Amino acid sequence: MTAVTQDLDADGILTLTIDLPNRSMNVINAEFGEGFEPACKRAIEDDAVKGIVITSAKDSFVAGADIDMIFPITDAKQAEQAAKGLAEGLRALETCGKPVAAAMNGTALGGGLEICLACHYRVAIDNPRAKIGLPEVKLGLLPGAGGTQRLPRMIGIQASLPLILEGKELDPAKAKSMGIVDDLASDRDDMMAKAKAWVKATPKAAQPWDQKGFKYPGGDAKNPKMGQVLAIAPSMLRDKTKGNYPAPENILSCVVEGSLVDFDSAMTVEARYFANCVVSQVSKNMIGTLWYQLNAIKRGASRPDGFEPYKTKKVGILGAGMMGAGIAYVSAKAGIDVVLKDVSQQAADKGKAYSESLQDKAIKRGRSTPEKKAELLGRITATDSYDGMADCDLIIEAVFEDRGLKAKVTQDTEAVLPETATFASNTSTLPITGLAEASKRPEQFIGLHFFSPADKMPLVEIIKGEQTNPETLAKAFDYVLQIRKTPIVVNDSRGFYTSRVFATYVNEGMAMLAEGVPPMVIERAGLQAGMPVGPLALHDEVSLSLSWHIMEQTRKDFEAEGKEFPKSPGYDVVDKMVNTLERPGKKAGKGFYDYPDGGKKAIWSGLAEHFPRNDDWDFDTLVERFGTIQANETARCMEEDVVETVADANIGSIFGWGFAPHEGGTLQYINARGLQAFVDQCKAFAKDYGPRFEPAELLVKMAADGKQFEA
Ligand code: NAI
Repeated sequence: MTAVTQDLDADGILTLTIDLPNRSMNVINAEFGEGFEPACKRAIEDDAVKGIVITSAKDSFVAGADIDMIFPITDAKQAEQAAKGLAEGLRALETCGKPVAAAMNGTALGGGLEICLACHYRVAIDNPRAKIGLPEVKLGLLPGAGGTQRLPRMIGIQASLPLILEGKELDPAKAKSMGIVDDLASDRDDMMAKAKAWVKATPKAAQPWDQKGFKYPGGDAKNPKMGQVLAIAPSMLRDKTKGNYPAPENILSCVVEGSLVDFDSAMTVEARYFANCVVSQVSKNMIGTLWYQLNAIKRGASRPDGFEPYKTKKVGILGAGMMGAGIAYVSAKAGIDVVLKDVSQQAADKGKAYSESLQDKAIKRGRSTPEKKAELLGRITATDSYDGMADCDLIIEAVFEDRGLKAKVTQDTEAVLPETATFASNTSTLPITGLAEASKRPEQFIGLHFFSPADKMPLVEIIKGEQTNPETLAKAFDYVLQIRKTPIVVNDSRGFYTSRVFATYVNEGMAMLAEGVPPMVIERAGLQAGMPVGPLALHDEVSLSLSWHIMEQTRKDFEAEGKEFPKSPGYDVVDKMVNTLERPGKKAGKGFYDYPDGGKKAIWSGLAEHFPRNDDWDFDTLVERFGTIQANETARCMEEDVVETVADANIGSIFGWGFAPHEGGTLQYINARGLQAFVDQCKAFAKDYGPRFEPAELLVKMAADGKQFEA
């Protein structure tokens, strides 16, 4: 079986249909090449062939390059060669003189779109679910089959840069409005008819960039108008990437440098930058975690076997506050009926109104319609009573963080709940096993820890209590996938996994402040480490008073257990900020920052007086401390079985609290540096900054055994 079938019709139009055997989607790999290359050769050389149409037999067109082929490459020459294979084939096709049309029957991403861009004409089925784009950058790569050259020549440098730099995906209608697709078709027959009609009407075809006098739409990089844009583009990019991501910088270079040379030289420029990305540690980190490990999670690697996939039909949500309202929205959006309960009808209605406001925004952006909004809102019943819970298969409790209150609502709900239903708590700090004590069915009790805002954040941390049974875990896991979020599974422990490790980042910022590092330097170092927000700003957002409350609760818990309380370096800083200086955080308008009404936040000038400055610091060391403390704490979580898999740890860190994606997550951070090197770094930091940096036992042992974390 070949990956590309050839069909020559009576008009001399050769249709090349891509159909990789035994795969649900077409990808570009060796097998594809074995079918595509000879097909192109015939198309070019056979005089009976007057024109060519390229399409696919699957639901989608081509999903992109096969990551399995790219990931193992560590040699730049080999990477360059890999890019050139397809690139040269496409170049021969587009310069052969015969008309070539792309019949885009569905999603065309990455190399898939690059094939279409090399055609002289593109017609796409107008299916709003089909995706068109160049998403390579999201895995630390760039389009290596001409994408960085043809797209700017087609729609201009300025319009193409965001698409390639951010990997934006368009639907066919949007792609047409941008000039990436020439025409839309209603279905497959219409598409093929339009493609063939164009081929027939165009006996000889050449790309605009192969014609005399070609000019870039909007100008090439030498054009003074473009010069203005391009002069600031690198610094704007740098501001975003902090220099941590080679791919976007390489993309900008490809687009600019490629516009200054002829097309074939431009292809060499692209192939070399592509090779640089492929062999970079960053692409290895991103592909390993955001491709392989994420896919493994979605396939259910942490879901217990032996249970049929479960579809939640009706969910009861207790508490229509910030979290309850967001959870109601994502559930209803996934087609699940929702009962949203609060203490009064008014409070419940307010929670439901959140869904209405989100839908209104979506309609404004063209992402929803009044009909869809009505349907979604129709699924949510706001109430102040438990009556609607009698036929729920899942309850999610999101009332105030208070043990007594949570116990009471658990019992009140179970009084009406079917025996088979799952009860989940969205607690952020209270151990699940303890909360389950209030339940008649602790084996059906579980933690579903959402992140705020629940409608945006992609992760849900599922927490197993001591008695949670596998069936309950399987159902909870399926629910998280059903609402299109990513589940990680962890065991019960203080702060679970995400809050526990996240806290070390914020705490390290506190420690630096106490050492006398200037606040803005701390914030910059946090961003340079790849975190989305500096630790001081984050702490203000989370609220210092909440931190103080948790720290005090933890201290009391330790003392009640007769254990010594390990005072974190942040303890005294938070104590001083909250209790002496009365600056509890953003909500109060004052924390590490001032929040003037309507103005921009600014570091509070009083910090300099209360945390006197000491200039004995080194920026790179501060950056490394932020990564090291989080990675080491994650290793401790592995050691203590709080997290069980490398994938859950890495994905949980990136999706949960925004840990540096370019590092590939907290455990990949250790792998990339090497176990022994990381252990040595921890020991050196422990000597300089305190025992919190002592390497996890697990790491010391793994380093001695020459092991690393395997997903
Ligand atoms: P919130 O204060 O916005 O909402 C709590 C809601 O529960 C209020 O509307 C309140 O009226 C309602 N409530 C109180 N007693 C009730 C009862 N007997 N029956 C029904 N509703 C009742 O609080 P938020 O932020 O939504 O937090 C809720 C839970 O989610 C807490 O356990 C919190 O720790 C957890 N959580 C919060 C996150 C956050 O960032 N805010 C993140 C993850 C979890």
